[in-house]
Amino acid sequence: MQMCRPARRTYSAPMTGSANEHDMARSETSSDMPRETPRGRVLDKAQPAGTDPIDAVDAPSSLSSLNNPGAVKDLTKESESYTHGHHESVLRSHRRRTAANSAAFLLPHLLSDMTLLDVGCGPGTVTVDLAERLTAGSVVGVDASDDVLESARGLADAHGTKNISFEHANAYELPFEDDSFDVVFAHQLLQHLSDPVAALREMKRVARPGGFVAVRDADYEAMTWFPESPELTEWNMLYHEVTHTYGFEPDAGRRLASWVRDAGFDPASIEPGASVWCYATPDDRTWWGGLWAERCTQSNFAVQAKDSALADDVALEQLAQGWREWAAAPDGWFAVLNGEVLARA
Ligand SMILES: C[S@@+](CC[C@H](N)C(=O)[O-])C[C@H]1O[C@@H](n2cnc3c(N)ncnc32)[C@H](O)[C@@H]1O
Repeated sequence: MQMCRPARRTYSAPMTGSANEHDMARSETSSDMPRETPRGRVLDKAQPAGTDPIDAVDAPSSLSSLNNPGAVKDLTKESESYTHGHHESVLRSHRRRTAANSAAFLLPHLLSDMTLLDVGCGPGTVTVDLAERLTAGSVVGVDASDDVLESARGLADAHGTKNISFEHANAYELPFEDDSFDVVFAHQLLQHLSDPVAALREMKRVARPGGFVAVRDADYEAMTWFPESPELTEWNMLYHEVTHTYGFEPDAGRRLASWVRDAGFDPASIEPGASVWCYATPDDRTWWGGLWAERCTQSNFAVQAKDSALADDVALEQLAQGWREWAAAPDGWFAVLNGEVLARA
């Protein structure tokens, strides 16, 4: 989708190493002296009047939308554009997920004969893992992407998991009767929806009275890492800008309990919590840093950053290089805070 903003800017994070081809490319595109924002960001001065990037960087999402009048108002629930897409680098991230590392808060409540719906199941690693625990029950995974559903079906076949099925469905209009499932689960979905409360109401509708609705989402602002990296700081800011431009909330983790309340769940039934993924071993750094380096240049995130005039190829390659440098740092450490909520329908 092409946005209305005509401007394109390059990011010019402070140089951290010796000059390389990206540094040289950057200096070619940013000949004026850069200026710093209050948050320490260095911006290219070659920005046309009326498109001051400071407004876009620091504005709350509603103002970001005003700065990009074509961004949100053209999107309907049916046409929302999933930020990450399903590039191999994205799926490499999702395929690491298991019930143990992504749904631990739900596991103590599962009984072997329960029925469970996984909304926005993606490639299905968590979904299949849950089905293998519900030995006398059954699981349905739904997603808006047919390609990723094919991948999920292949995984279930490879595991020989029989009590599972996958269907195409929109989280806002689940194709199930009221009160259909004992458990309705959504992992890393609500942050990608423009109306997470509407989706939660729909999840509540298809859960049986007294059944569970369980949701878990990352919180991008709360992510922390070491060593300090201007490129990773830029990446995090850019991620916020892109998702806000498209009408999504990247800091979903801290908002889950509030959204669940707004969706009409009994406040007394809401159990809020948090848990963390941490990547610090050499293998984990290679995996996490490597996949984000690719995601910066090849995933739908890169496409949306460019379409919305928030970054160009040079800037994105600079961020990718930052990820590669982080992965190579022997003392590298990265933590992803996830909010989670269990509630009774
Ligand atoms: C971050 S992935 C999470 C996948 C999986 N739950 C996991 O944790 O591995 C989000 C998934 O939600 C799906 N999705 C996005 N919007 C959706 C919608 N409106 N209805 C159903 N699925 C949607 C995407 O296609 C994507 O597969």
